[in-house]
Order: sequence, then structure tokens, then C-alpha cells
Amino acid sequence: MDISQYKNVTLLDHPLLKHKISILRDKNTPTSQFRQIVKEVAVMEGYEALKDVKTHLVEIETPIEKTKQPMVEGSHLCFVPILRAGMGMVDGMTELVPTAKVGHIGLYRDEVTHEPHEYYCKLPDHLDQKEVYVLDPMLATGGSSIDAIKLLKQHGAKHLHFICIIAAPEGVKAFCEANPDIPLYIGALDRQLNENAYICPGLGDAGDRIFGTVKE
Ligand code: PRP
Ligand code: URA
Repeated sequence: MDISQYKNVTLLDHPLLKHKISILRDKNTPTSQFRQIVKEVAVMEGYEALKDVKTHLVEIETPIEKTKQPMVEGSHLCFVPILRAGMGMVDGMTELVPTAKVGHIGLYRDEVTHEPHEYYCKLPDHLDQKEVYVLDPMLATGGSSIDAIKLLKQHGAKHLHFICIIAAPEGVKAFCEANPDIPLYIGALDRQLNENAYICPGLGDAGDRIFGTVKE
């Protein structure tokens, strides 16, 4: 896939990020380490995705003198994980901006149709005035991300961003066709989906690996 055709997409390119994503891909990585690395990847991706966030000048006093210096107003930011797997990215993002608001959207993919179903939605007030960062490690068919964005728009969100760890070309295409103006940050772009709509090579079921619910 020629990713450069999508002007809203940033495919991150850093050796440490690639290294950490390779650990996530390894089926022998235990749950505790998987969870920790998802958090670290969220910090790295969040750092990049937040690079255009607005600052305002605040008066502070150094040991030398009074001065006005740039600060981020965290309460103008809202992080929205798509449950369950997106929860794994919240700690990394709030480590970057501890005062950000956090909303939650619950979606699960039907195992047969692969269509997303909504089961939970709790969002902060005044969403229209916030920069909203949707978090989900996996962008597979794109169905869940597209539905989450639709829901957030219905709740008034106007300034949206999407951060995922691994994306399939099929999901990127669907997301960008539905949302050509929403910045999409991707940690790794994989080859394709398989017949069960899992990403190849991918990392398996992100929710199961974060929460240790892998079927034995
Ligand atoms: C996974 C993942 C995304 C979705 C991606 O969640 O976390 O939300 O699938 O697939 P899509 O792009 O084809 O919609 P899942 O539905 O498995 O729920 P879970 O996080 O609760 O395991
Ligand atoms: N959801 C996952 O957790 N993994 C995939 O590969 C696709 C959807």
C-alpha cells in the first residue's frame, strides 16, 4: 500500500518503537510484559500525536525572576480508549498529560460478521471544545474505529485524532475514506487481514493479550 496517498496518516518510524512492537508480536511475550509494552508504545506514539497541541503562556517564578512560559491545558484534551484493548494505552497517554479527561467507548466485533457492536459510552462534557484522541491498538477492517468516530461526532466532538499500534491496509483505506480529515497515527502497517479479519502478521487478539483472557 502506498501510504503517502493518505495525507492524514502518519506512519511512525523509530527503531525503539519498532523494537517494542516486535516484542508485542511475539506469542511468547507474557501478559505482564505485553501490558507494560503497550503502555510504553502509547507514550511514544502519544508524544508524536500531541506535537501540535496548543500551549498558552502562564506566569511562573523561577529562582531568578518572574516569567511567562508555555504550558499545556490538559483539561482541553480528552483520551478515549475503545474497550477493551484501548484501555491498555490510557496509562501511557495520561503519563504524558495527567490532567487530560478520559472518556470510554465499548465496542466488540461480532466473531462471525466482524461488525462492531456498541455496549458502552461515557464521555466528558463540552466535547466540542476538546482535542479528542481515540485509542485502540488494532485497526483491522476499520469498522470499530469508524463507528467510534461516528459516535464521538454525534456527541459533539469536532477535533478528532486516532492512534493505533498496528494497522492493516484494509483498515487504513476504510478509515481514510470515511475520515479523510482526521489525523491517524500508526505504529506499524502490516500486510493484510486473514479470513477471520485478524491482522497478519499482527499480534493476535490485543484485548485477550492485555487482559490475559487468551483461550487455552
Ligand atoms: C479489537 C480491537 C479493535 C477491533 C479492531 O477489539 O481492539 O477494537 O478489534 O477491529 P476492526 O478494525 O475490524 O473493527 P475486539 O472487538 O476484539 O474487542 P476487545 O477489545 O474487547 O477484545
Ligand atoms: N482485533 C485484534 O485484537 N487483533 C486483530 O488482529 C484484529 C482485530
